[in-house]
Amino acid sequence: MHLLIPAAGSGSRMKAGKNKLLLNLNGESILYWTLKAVFLSEKVSWVGIIGQPYDKSEIIDSIKEFSDKTCWINGGNTRQESVRNGVNNLPNNATKVLIHDGARCLIKPELIDKCFTELEENDAVISAVKVIDTIKVVNENRIIKETPNRNFLWAAQTPQGFLVTQLKKAHQQAKENSWDVTDDASLFELLKWPVKIIEGNSTNIKITSPIDLKIASLFLSNSQS
Ligand code: CTP
Ligand code: MG
Repeated sequence: MHLLIPAAGSGSRMKAGKNKLLLNLNGESILYWTLKAVFLSEKVSWVGIIGQPYDKSEIIDSIKEFSDKTCWINGGNTRQESVRNGVNNLPNNATKVLIHDGARCLIKPELIDKCFTELEENDAVISAVKVIDTIKVVNENRIIKETPNRNFLWAAQTPQGFLVTQLKKAHQQAKENSWDVTDDASLFELLKWPVKIIEGNSTNIKITSPIDLKIASLFLSNSQS
């Protein structure tokens, strides 16, 4: 099965002055750990790394252990544009694809397998976790407008898996209509196409701020010992 890894961000919230995926985490780059987990999945046969041309040499160098098993695709200015480039550059024989953020390096290979399995029965699936906090919707003055029933709230993660033909169409429509979203499932929702949720793991965090590096370091040390 085919898997795309968006890795073309700048990591502005990490404030490290470079793509956060290249930062050192327990002796390797963040992206290295993501790929390490990805290749432990039994079902992954092809991986596309979507990155910025100016990061290419550093990225390739940090993941050279996997270089014969990965393909490079140039990313865009937004995650949405990066994924669109990725989908448009998949091999012709790709019928289904998983998208997994390079920044989620604590992904368990079993969750990747589970997403692929669910994708056999469904056209679109995403891993997500039940929301723990009570969520408030506010207006522009931060006055609370409503509190949605938590029983219906899930926090979306990646992997997210789709039929390639549908995902291509969704990204094309998004471009034509100037839709601006933060995950691929949102495009399916705008098109009223069903997306199934698969319960993921709360440890599958997206490395975003410096504190996340510390958390990930602890988890990785635990799983290595
Ligand atoms: N991403 C991408 N292309 C972009 C922006 C983001 O491929 N133009 C990727 C990131 O590399 C990351 C994933 O999408 O693996 C999720 O994005 P996010 O966590 O927001 O990463 P950044 O955009 O790099 O971070 P920030 O938003 O703090 O700048
Ligand atoms: Mg971002």
